[in-house]
Amino acid sequence: MNPKKMKLTKIMVLVSGSGMNLQALIDAERSGKLRNGTITAVISDHPQAFAIERARRAGIPVFVEVPQEELSRAERNLELSNRILERAQSMNINGIILAGFLSILQGPLVSAFFGKMINIHPSLLPKFGGNGMYGMKVHQAVLEAGEKESGCTVHFVDNGINTGTIILQRKVPVLSGDSPGDLAERIRHEEYSAIVNASVILIKIVNRGAVV
Ligand code: GRF
Repeated sequence: MNPKKMKLTKIMVLVSGSGMNLQALIDAERSGKLRNGTITAVISDHPQAFAIERARRAGIPVFVEVPQEELSRAERNLELSNRILERAQSMNINGIILAGFLSILQGPLVSAFFGKMINIHPSLLPKFGGNGMYGMKVHQAVLEAGEKESGCTVHFVDNGINTGTIILQRKVPVLSGDSPGDLAERIRHEEYSAIVNASVILIKIVNRGAVV
């Protein structure tokens, strides 16, 4: 079907950091790569995230939803997840993309968007994923383990941490003398097309109304 004649698929993007993956998605939408997908809202769990600025510049409504630090870890994750679910439902969101989002999502949000919510992680899952594995910690662990290759993974979000079904992976070599920053940089270049391609798959799934 001509994408212009299809109903829009409303996407919400969740961010915590610099938002370069978000930027890749914004650019992809502008160039028509997301087909009928449209980034309808961005949510940041961090008020200083540069991703907020990227969303504003692109004219996308952006909401800051800060975790309530006074709650226990489990309560905090659930309370934040519930706020995100409310926003998603009130905006008729069809799919959710975690593009460098550090909070752990739980409860009814995960059930409501099962098979419709994806995350990008900078390692070849199931290696170097899970609790506490984010940012440079991932690349440091890869180097310490003497891995010959690393990369990124886009997967569906389930109730675990980085345990959902894998959609796609991109590999890069680990080179001798690499610092965590060198490796992160090499992987980043793969992340942008990985997140866009996986988002196109997500959008197709949402369009079909399929659940994996
Ligand atoms: C990326 O490395 C992504 O894989 C990870 O967090 C980082 C986000 O970077 N989950 P950015 O905010 O998209 O620049």
